[in-house]
Amino acid sequence: MTAPETARPLTGRARPGRRPHSLAEWQAGGGHAGLARARALTPAEARARVVAAALNGRGGAGVPAGRKWSFLPPPDGGPRHLIVNGDETEPGAFKDRFLMEALPHQLLEGALIAAHATEATDITVLVRDAYRPAIAAIGHAMAELEAAGLAAGIRLHLHPSAGRYIVGEETALIAALEGARPVPRVRPPFPAISGLHGRPTTVNNVETIALLPALFAEGAQWFRALSKTEEGGTKLYAVSGRVHRPGLFERPMGTTPRTLLEAAGGVAGTGTLLAFQPGGGASAFLGPEHLDLPLDFGHCARAGTMLGTGTMIVLDTSACPLGVLRAHLRFYARESCGWCTPCREGLPLAARALDRLEDGGATRADLDLLADIAAEAGPRGRAFCDFMGGAMAPLASALSRFADRFEAHLGGGCPMARAA
Ligand SMILES: Cc1cc2nc3c(=O)[nH]c(=O)nc-3n(C[C@H](O)[C@H](O)[C@H](O)COP(=O)(O)O)c2cc1C
Repeated sequence: MTAPETARPLTGRARPGRRPHSLAEWQAGGGHAGLARARALTPAEARARVVAAALNGRGGAGVPAGRKWSFLPPPDGGPRHLIVNGDETEPGAFKDRFLMEALPHQLLEGALIAAHATEATDITVLVRDAYRPAIAAIGHAMAELEAAGLAAGIRLHLHPSAGRYIVGEETALIAALEGARPVPRVRPPFPAISGLHGRPTTVNNVETIALLPALFAEGAQWFRALSKTEEGGTKLYAVSGRVHRPGLFERPMGTTPRTLLEAAGGVAGTGTLLAFQPGGGASAFLGPEHLDLPLDFGHCARAGTMLGTGTMIVLDTSACPLGVLRAHLRFYARESCGWCTPCREGLPLAARALDRLEDGGATRADLDLLADIAAEAGPRGRAFCDFMGGAMAPLASALSRFADRFEAHLGGGCPMARAA
């Protein structure tokens, strides 16, 4: 057993160059120990172990995995689905790509454990279409498992996603798998009750699933002790933007931005931190006063932002936050599925107001419009899903955090671009 401070249950077995293991190599290195332990438990015991480990799902909202699994109805002899969500299209996120490319057998071992705990008959791994090496690695690993008879009767499916951000939202994802237009739907019914083809379905993020082999091999208490907070395990944080060494860093859950910035070689550009988004493009901005905030789901929510995908986007004092915001809003405006009016109409309006602020010609009416859209739309945005709320979180926080900079953009466009 590795000491909790240095344990890397997610990435510890990755090989240089992201070369995935063959099944024989995975097993020779201790792979499938967690699966064997899980299969020695009843499904209910396996679910209880995940509850005891305090594993919060890593897909964005931090939903406790064991509790989510406990909402499933008892098996009725028909199909039950486990879907591993590898759609990963959030700006700034690249953690699931690494796990799928480098550690496909770890992911599939985790999926078999989750299928045992949820009594699933079918496992579907949905992978973002652009992630070709990941698709190849998982397809190969699935074929090896099936040939070795290790799937234990569970049907394995691999589904490249057609490549829209909204497909990552679980109800849109289910629609996509059914061959329908990928738009979210209202819940209830939750997928646990009526999901893929109307059957009980669990959707979990790649990172959530990839943590299960170590959790079951080493035990719930070990897993919980890896964290610096009440939320168990390690987290695969990403750091990008104005840092010297952007990358992925597996650290205890609850690691601070200060530690992550150090790991990423420090703030680049002016060397002085202006602000950061702790959880990808859809998280509210925090500032230097938050450098010692433990980055877990609860602490981030209480600080008015979210851990989301745990991908930190860093701005130094020479970066224009409105420019960053415009890039995000253009992305969200393009990626809205168009189903709900506030999202379909509000996001392009906000993106065009930011164009005027950055390029010149903005008036106070543009600031009022942005404030109106942010207030009307967020946090949930009167929409079927969390897309609009997520898109508005950086805008709403920027409007208050950078009020003076918005003022400075009126009329003549970005003052930083003019000075450059
Ligand atoms: C617009 C939108 C996009 C999403 N994209 C992803 C994604 O790419 N991957 C993912 O795991 N979850 C994504 N989610 C969250 C999923 O709906 C779902 O909550 C998650 O897959 C559950 O996994 P977890 O319980 O393991 O965290 C997205 C949610 C929304 C609202």
